[in-house]
Amino acid sequence: MSSNQDLIGRDDVNDLEAILGITNRDRDEVIHAVADNAEAIFTWDYEKGQRPALNRLYEKAKVSMWNGETDLPWDTEVDQEKVVAENALASGGFDADIDTTGTPMEHWTEVEWLEFGVESQNWMLSQFMHGEQGALICTAKIVETVPWIDAKYYASTQVMDEARHVEVFAKYLDTKLSGHYPINAHLELLLDDIVNDSRWDMTYLGMQIMVEGLALAAFGFMHQMTTEPLLKQLLRYVMSDEARHVAFGVLSLKEYYAELSDAEMLERQEFAFEAAVRMRDRFLQQEVWDKMGIDPKTAAGLVLQAPQRQLFQSMLFSKIVPNCKKLGLLDRNDHWLRAKFTELGVIQFEDWADTEEEYETFALAQGEIASAS
Ligand SMILES: [Fe+2]
Ligand SMILES: [Fe+2]
Repeated sequence: MSSNQDLIGRDDVNDLEAILGITNRDRDEVIHAVADNAEAIFTWDYEKGQRPALNRLYEKAKVSMWNGETDLPWDTEVDQEKVVAENALASGGFDADIDTTGTPMEHWTEVEWLEFGVESQNWMLSQFMHGEQGALICTAKIVETVPWIDAKYYASTQVMDEARHVEVFAKYLDTKLSGHYPINAHLELLLDDIVNDSRWDMTYLGMQIMVEGLALAAFGFMHQMTTEPLLKQLLRYVMSDEARHVAFGVLSLKEYYAELSDAEMLERQEFAFEAAVRMRDRFLQQEVWDKMGIDPKTAAGLVLQAPQRQLFQSMLFSKIVPNCKKLGLLDRNDHWLRAKFTELGVIQFEDWADTEEEYETFALAQGEIASAS
């Protein structure tokens, strides 16, 4: 079995020094190439509906397409500072639960905290945009590599969904916010690993289960929190798609993983753990602290201990853990992944609703797509 060192390059998952040592060294890069190591698979078995659940999902996707240009109220005026201040107030203030004594933030006034809040939002939405492009690329790869016709059909609708997601996040950043961030190094490592893997199910596991599982939870939070109507509507649309995407992952892998040996399952468990750690690491938002002129080591350690932060971070795993459980990943090989999720402090979500059960609750109601009504 691999050690933490083999899997994530450090022994202690909470080793702050090691986490912050991973940074994006090419911030001006415009093109980034990754070998995808996969064979394109044709199937000559065209019988539609052999996998009825996937077929249903495909039919649903076809009638759930919204248009990022025409269905969203882009004429909404967004006062970013006002929105950020309101959101901070709703959660008790920017520094409500961190003790800044003895740090450079001790002397911050409302002005610096507001600037920090604005940068955080720019950073957060930039990372979502980059993650969405990861999904676009991964789903295109799944169209090529999955051997089942019903899955190829469904994945092709997801490619279109992801194009819309990249498009609307990019447009929101460009026209309503005040700056972009390059991709976070931890997120980039993860996306590269997913694309790099030659096995078709690893694309699903990394993207549909891990990255999109986290995105669904994070979008849910933001959707609930934000008072800005355009962003709220945008997230509503995106989440209705994401829930379907995660369900696609669970449905496809459930069938495939039922047949795998212990050794093969262990590789999937290790991959899920690595992905979970990378995603947690990126939420330290080290680039924002850098921009504010604060040593990320000072700030990130402090933020890591803040109770609200800890709650938010662990809630991000509220979709991932039940879905991993449903796939049989938690307890194979002597409860390997259960132990790791316990180490990460997220095992308490194991009995929450999995996305195969709940995805329909995210579906858009009749008439909810503006252009269709
Ligand atoms: Fe997406
Ligand atoms: Fe997605």
